Amino acid sequence: MRGKVVVITGATSGIGQVAAERLAGMGARVLLVARDRTRGAASLSRLRERGPGLAHRAHYADLSSVADTKRVAAEIAAAEPRIDVLINNAGALFNTRRVTADGLELTFATNHVAYAVLTHGLRACLMAGAPARVINTASDAHRRARLAFDDLQAARGYSGLKVYGRSKLCNILYTRELARRWAGTGVTANSLHPGFVATRFGDRSGGLLSYGIDTVAIFRQAATYVDRILKGEKPGDLPVQAPVSFKLIINLKAARAIGLAIPEAFLLRADEVIE
Ligand SMILES: NC(=O)c1ccc[n+]([C@@H]2O[C@H](COP(=O)([O-])OP(=O)(O)OC[C@H]3O[C@@H](n4cnc5c(N)ncnc54)[C@H](OP(=O)(O)O)[C@@H]3O)[C@@H](O)[C@H]2O)c1
Repeated sequence: MRGKVVVITGATSGIGQVAAERLAGMGARVLLVARDRTRGAASLSRLRERGPGLAHRAHYADLSSVADTKRVAAEIAAAEPRIDVLINNAGALFNTRRVTADGLELTFATNHVAYAVLTHGLRACLMAGAPARVINTASDAHRRARLAFDDLQAARGYSGLKVYGRSKLCNILYTRELARRWAGTGVTANSLHPGFVATRFGDRSGGLLSYGIDTVAIFRQAATYVDRILKGEKPGDLPVQAPVSFKLIINLKAARAIGLAIPEAFLLRADEVIE
């Protein structure tokens, strides 16, 4: 990746943060698109540690806004003669329906429309960087999703998970269409499911969704932990990557209260950490 220019969204947290840091470590010059200046500056300083002397930059935009996304794309395009990789990754899930200033449902705006607007705004830089790549973070949550073309803004009956799944289906369909339209230009387009990862995802969803997503992540990690014990491996640290928080305690207590079988080894370790 040495000498490559990578634009990445959602790199102030989770999957995007790790990807950006790894790419910087491999010698790429990374341009972050972040919405929060404090978090953006913290990410930038981590990039400078991982990949020193590479002129990494942070650009700021709220990607749920079409105008702001167009503005940041123009700002990057004015500064960069070519881009080798664009990673559209910022995403979120919301418990209740919210509408942006553009009149779009917030999940659809952030998870899908922003990918298309940013890609379109950086088209000339990507073409100049060919062979170049567009990588869109999707999710296997698309599997159960169906697009309702007469209700793309989910005005009739909102469900956070359903609308999230639809936005991720949009990521995949958009990527396929982009690959078809840009065939032969030297710019490829791919989407991916990153796996189930314990990030900040869902923390700000609101309502039970915030707790639900964390609980699933904890159970998945507990299963991996027990697997390691069964294989005779040393299990190592408690397999909860997120900070041990009030929420973790509530989740574990709630799970026990309703009689869910949490592996004993995991509970013991969790209790030790909580105490
Ligand atoms: N975690 C999983 O298990 C999982 C599974 C499948 C797919 N995914 C996908 O992976 C991607 C990354 O998620 P993650 O798990 O890493 O979540 P995360 O830790 O919550 O990170 C989300 C990132 O997106 C940014 N973001 C959200 N809304 C934004 C907006 N309006 N404008 C600008 N930036 C915005 C956040 O910025 P702030 O730091 O300012 O909040 C953060 O950097 C998402 O597309 C998600 O759908 C995740």
